[in-house]
Amino acid sequence: MSTSALLAQLDDVGRDPRRGGYSRHVFDPAERDLRDWFGEQARARGLDVHADRNANLWAWWGGPGPDAVVTGSHLDSVPGGGAFDGPLGVAAALGAVDELRATGFQPGRPLAIVVFAEEEGGRFGVPCLGSRLLSGSIDRDTACALRDQGGTTFAEALRAAGGDPARAGADPELLGGIGKFVELHVEQGRGLVDLGRPVAVATSILGHGRWRFRFRGQGNHAGATPLEDRSDPMLPAARTVLAAREAAARHEARATVGRLVPNPGGTNVIASSTDLWLDARAPLDTTTRAVVAELTARAEEHARAEGCRVDVTEESYSPTAHFDQGLRAELTALLDDAPALATGAGHDAGVLSTRVPTSMLFVRNPTGISHAPDEHAEPADCEAGTAALARVLRRWAA
Ligand code: GLV
Ligand code: MN
Ligand code: MN
Repeated sequence: MSTSALLAQLDDVGRDPRRGGYSRHVFDPAERDLRDWFGEQARARGLDVHADRNANLWAWWGGPGPDAVVTGSHLDSVPGGGAFDGPLGVAAALGAVDELRATGFQPGRPLAIVVFAEEEGGRFGVPCLGSRLLSGSIDRDTACALRDQGGTTFAEALRAAGGDPARAGADPELLGGIGKFVELHVEQGRGLVDLGRPVAVATSILGHGRWRFRFRGQGNHAGATPLEDRSDPMLPAARTVLAAREAAARHEARATVGRLVPNPGGTNVIASSTDLWLDARAPLDTTTRAVVAELTARAEEHARAEGCRVDVTEESYSPTAHFDQGLRAELTALLDDAPALATGAGHDAGVLSTRVPTSMLFVRNPTGISHAPDEHAEPADCEAGTAALARVLRRWAA
């Protein structure tokens, strides 16, 4: 089946009524529907499907074994995300299996499609949670204690989804069986549009991390509290948002505040506390650290000036990832001199890249937009990406 036809089957799953696009967070009904869909599709192709200890789904062609060739991506999304970030890599993997089958190909070594859990960190805050757990980049207790916005822990959600939190965590046997990994992904920028090409080979992922700034003040009445008597945590939070943009520009980094939550959040209520999440990214870890240190200092100053306090917590950090040079060269040659592109977006491939020979393929996105409903890939480019992936799998798994 074509990759576009596979993606079309997901059109109605998890639509976001507020922003448009899709909200599919790990273990919520929409994401579970997608997991079921993947299981059905994989089983229909004769693949053996199971969930690992960390809720990542694996579909094996030829049974698990050493030196396996693995491809895949994720099915969860950011709030109101696009249709392609994640699902394109999963659908293309299924489409590539179909292409290989149609030519009578039989893998000479194990081949698997993986669907990683909670890649976006949209529910529990830590991106690539499934691949971090698998690779031991986050320990079981830390992951299990993560809470979603409703207070449910990852351990509780995993158990409700049929998993066993006591068995979550590093899985050296499964990880050690991966010989090579390739993730196909929609491009999250306009590099391929500018180059006039449908498919690229990835070079690197920008280092990135997430920090929570919690400003605490004095909850009070919006009408009855004179300005000079206020300790309003919204003010230092707002000043920190502006400072983030300034610091990023000065350091040639990227810094974003995409989530700001006053507690309790009422129009006529001075908040008691305000949480702000900072996403900061830069090629050098020292740059990202400098941006965060500077913002922490600024946030403390602004908090003091308003009679508030602030605590800063690092929720995740991923250093800049460079993909395997040998695989990059091999893919470039195999795919008709495909262009090389770096990305500012995080991926499970980045987490795996320090443990396993890893590579990525990008598919052209005519809007260049991602993490928003306008993300797009033309059907012809989805098929070009699938054909490229099939060529790679054929070479590696022969
Ligand atoms: C995930 O796509 C990220 O870059 O945050
Ligand atoms: Mn994403
Ligand atoms: Mn993604």
